[in-house]
Amino acid sequence: MNRVAAVITATMLLIATTGPARAQGASVEDSIAAYREMLADDNPAELWEIKGKAFWAKKRGPKNASLEACNLGLGPGVVKGAFAQLPRFFADSGRVQDLEMRLVSCMIDLQGLSRAEAEKNHFSTDNDASDIEALSAWIASESKGMPIALPQSHPKEKEAYAVGEQLFHYRAGPYDFACSTCHSSSGTRIRLQVLPNLTEPAEAKAIFASWPAYRVSQGTVRTMENRITDCLRQQRMPMADYGSQVITDLTVYMGVQAAGGQMAAPGLKR
Ligand code: HEC
Repeated sequence: MNRVAAVITATMLLIATTGPARAQGASVEDSIAAYREMLADDNPAELWEIKGKAFWAKKRGPKNASLEACNLGLGPGVVKGAFAQLPRFFADSGRVQDLEMRLVSCMIDLQGLSRAEAEKNHFSTDNDASDIEALSAWIASESKGMPIALPQSHPKEKEAYAVGEQLFHYRAGPYDFACSTCHSSSGTRIRLQVLPNLTEPAEAKAIFASWPAYRVSQGTVRTMENRITDCLRQQRMPMADYGSQVITDLTVYMGVQAAGGQMAAPGLKR
């Protein structure tokens, strides 16, 4: 971990010393890309993966059961490759679910937890680590290198895509922003942050493949639910509930756009 800290410090120095004029340009992007490359073998998310793997096997709840029989879409207990095909339709819940909502369902059904207990600390805070973030990091890592392939055969999966597409382009809120206002042209930025073009297949693949991700600025692994919640805030929309179908549908839209990309999560982000 010392190496991680050293690389981050070096990068911050690099950004600081490139000066304000150049800092607006490609150099910042280059140095962030460089630190990502240097850290790639040392992603702090590995610590979350280890915790998540242990948590999967831990017995808890009134039924004193682990999550090991949880069906993530490829059959009970099958983790390898499951994340590359999520969100998808689940007959037992009658819904298209993303990984997080699927985990919550399994905690309720297998472990006997209440929804509130299952969803507790879903986004970690400084003093409260999230089990769901850890589980997500581990489960995602078990799909590394596999092609993104969200199923689109069930009518509800098709509906989720269609609604997600509409939502992505739907302008609303006090500034009349849509997701596409910020995410449908390449090479734009807000301050120093590059805005990815999520309607362009190559960019959509790379982005979708990299969530959940360790966020250096937040010191934790964040999930796609968290990312979209934060972007809804940037869009000045009302706060979305955890597990809102709006979030799942947007995830399905982005995931289908990214079909064929190679899963690389957990990623590493600013
Ligand atoms: C007001 C502008 C704005 C709007 C509107 C917006 N976003 Fe974002 N989005 C951002 C910024 C800024 C980032 C962060 C870029 C960074 O940190 O490098 C981001 C990042 C993302 C990322 C992660 C990109 C990456 O680099 O991994 C995803 C996915 C995303 N947004 C999806 C959405 C969705 C879905 C919506 C609509 C609900 C949306 N955004 C609406 C500004 C916006």
